[in-house]
Amino acid sequence: MPAIVIVGAQWGDEGKGKATDLLGSRVDYVVKFNGGNNAGHTVVIGDEKYALHLLPSGILTPGCTPVIGNGVVIDLNVLFEEIDGLEARGIDTSRLLVSANAHVITEYHRTLDKVNERFLGSRRIGTTGRGIGPTYADKMNRLGIRIQDLFDDKILQQKVDGALELKNQILAKVYNRRAMSADAIVEELSQYVERLRPFVCDTSLVLNDALTRGETVLLEAGQATLLDVDHGTYPFVTSSSATAGGACTGSGIPPTAVDRVIGIVKAYATRVGEGPFPTELLDADGDRLRQSGSEFGTTTGRPRRCGWYDVPVARYAARINGVTDFVLTKLDVLTGWERIPVCVAYDIDGERVSEMPMTQTGFHHAKPVYEFFDGWDEDISGARSLEDLPKNAQRYIASLEELSGARMSAIGVGPGRDETVVVHDLL
Ligand code: GDP
Ligand code: IMO
Ligand code: MG
Repeated sequence: MPAIVIVGAQWGDEGKGKATDLLGSRVDYVVKFNGGNNAGHTVVIGDEKYALHLLPSGILTPGCTPVIGNGVVIDLNVLFEEIDGLEARGIDTSRLLVSANAHVITEYHRTLDKVNERFLGSRRIGTTGRGIGPTYADKMNRLGIRIQDLFDDKILQQKVDGALELKNQILAKVYNRRAMSADAIVEELSQYVERLRPFVCDTSLVLNDALTRGETVLLEAGQATLLDVDHGTYPFVTSSSATAGGACTGSGIPPTAVDRVIGIVKAYATRVGEGPFPTELLDADGDRLRQSGSEFGTTTGRPRRCGWYDVPVARYAARINGVTDFVLTKLDVLTGWERIPVCVAYDIDGERVSEMPMTQTGFHHAKPVYEFFDGWDEDISGARSLEDLPKNAQRYIASLEELSGARMSAIGVGPGRDETVVVHDLL
């Protein structure tokens, strides 16, 4: 069996966690390949609600092995808090595997993330403040601390000393902050060494061996296409590769092993943090979507910006990721709207454009061109097949499918594990 990739097709929070959980019982491994605890995935199983940040959603499925890949950045405090929280609720976390090559978020990364944002003022990104950007910057700058470094006292001390030599200058001279003690950082990281040891391995080797044995590997993205550092709305993006290409570099699985890419797309759109968002609703309609969709961040609790479905964005995500199947989530949230606008193109300075504009300035100037679809009033949360849905909901799905560039293989009609209409099997 092959590797399957799940990616966000918009700006995050599309419902990737639920989709991963849905497939969890039928796959052998679930791999988180990018990002860190900036992610927030809510998974609802029966009456239980789980908010996951760093652990892959596969942790909730008995028999499935959850893997934190080399492309992830790990805050060890958060990792063990999350493990302890799940263990206290009776979830077995002992199967977890952690890549020896994943990078570690330290106190100076968290601090620099926050002071950078303050320094940027009106140009801020609106980050989650978890130290994600500074940790990836160190990785690229070859100043990072990796999980494997924690198992060699001398190397760990050397690397932290080396990093702080530079960071302390920046903290003191640019940001007027107190310098940090290398020994305190080393001590903080070292406290986790013995608990961490049994989880750590060469995860690329484990995953490739599993694929050779014919097992199924699901690669789950954090964030989303429009937050990808290369393909997103730069600079208003996260610092990792959240698209399908990142699944390979972030896990050590070759592109030839991937034969399915599932794009998760909300029936409307949301965004957290700063940056362009052409269909954003700044009026009562936006509030109505936010309330009915419970659009408040899983990680920071911030109200999510809400707007209508954006076809050029979905088509762009289909292209960049090679989406074979879309999962359309939260269709139930649109119940009760008399008519539903869908952005089919942009008006950019008087010109109609139906692709993602080449420049960021173009995207900032993009005004949505809407087509309107008739809504429905019926409660759809009990629907389990397309025929169970009102005709206008069926038309909405069929139109989005035609416009967005890949088939809609599953439709979310509620947060629960079984509140899904499966049109085409996802495995
Ligand atoms: P992720 O970051 O992509 O995993 O998404 P989040 O978990 O941050 O946000 C998605 C939210 O929508 C979660 O609270 C889910 O429980 C919820 N959700 C997922 N699918 C559906 C759906 O089809 N309908 C409704 N009403 N909620 C859903
Ligand atoms: P999931 O996996 C939505 C946004 C932040 C900010 C930008 C950069 O739950 O979909 P960072 O802390 O990563 O440097 O912040 O990216 N962001 C997300 N928005 N969902 C997420 O994750 C996000 N992770 C980061 O709001 O605008
Ligand atoms: Mg989320």
